[in-house]
Amino acid sequence: MPSQNNTETKIAISKRDNLQQMHSDDPIGIFDSGVGGLSITQCIQQQLPHENLLYVADTLNAPYGEKSAQFIQQRVNEIAQWFIEQKVKAIVVACNTATVNAIDQLRKNISIPVIGVEPAIKPAAHSSKNKKVAILVTKATAENQRFLSLVAQYRNNSDVTIQPCPGLVELIEQDKKASIECQQMLSGYLLPLIAQGVDTIVLGCTHYPLVKALISEICGDGVLIMETAQPVTEQLQRQLTLHQLSNTSKDLGTTSFYSSKHSESQQALFSHIWQRPLQLKHYP
Ligand code: DGL
Repeated sequence: MPSQNNTETKIAISKRDNLQQMHSDDPIGIFDSGVGGLSITQCIQQQLPHENLLYVADTLNAPYGEKSAQFIQQRVNEIAQWFIEQKVKAIVVACNTATVNAIDQLRKNISIPVIGVEPAIKPAAHSSKNKKVAILVTKATAENQRFLSLVAQYRNNSDVTIQPCPGLVELIEQDKKASIECQQMLSGYLLPLIAQGVDTIVLGCTHYPLVKALISEICGDGVLIMETAQPVTEQLQRQLTLHQLSNTSKDLGTTSFYSSKHSESQQALFSHIWQRPLQLKHYP
């Protein structure tokens, strides 16, 4: 079976996850299969500027959207283990595909706050005027039972079209956001949705906000595009407050970037998306 949604990978995450051992100036670990999670990290950095952030891109294994649930769970657990070794106080799974496939088993294994990315189905169903909503996702998310249950639970009588977008993450990872290829691919996914009358589109993959301008251009003004960086940041803030882990330092926090595929082109891609030069380190 290619997609093993209910399979739980046996893991051995070490138990440095006692909340008593956490300090407010410990970093927050954020990860994604690649650069997609930077869209969430930017929002976190802007709104929680005193927090120290560690960002991991598992680029060597991107795209997660084409991988089995078992593989995704294994990678999520390995990255979580590394974060715990770095003494993080919370983990943000800045990836929809990893959230739906692996967050439940991860939460069972560690007790520090783990924040995931839930697609904005509920607000989209409320905002849509004609009750026609589409959600753009990876293949692994589209096939995931947890995700399908969320859609069923929150669709609120809206007609929800689940649109997988294979190939799009790869183009974004190759820094081909502005290419004709990317424009044609997105038009192929979006124009049938527009023809069908969809007035609200949910970006259900953290890579997709990186091509939001292109999506808006193809869809036109009448279509509302919804993303999740803001609710994820608010949920992180709530969890930090709840556990008295918000960084009270007056200094600005630091952000460190790691990738499992370290190269000059990766560093250039990260700097381009982050909109300032940065030092990309090798993960692990
Ligand atoms: N950014 C990811 C997500 O939110 C993963 C994309 C991928 O690696 O396929 O789903």
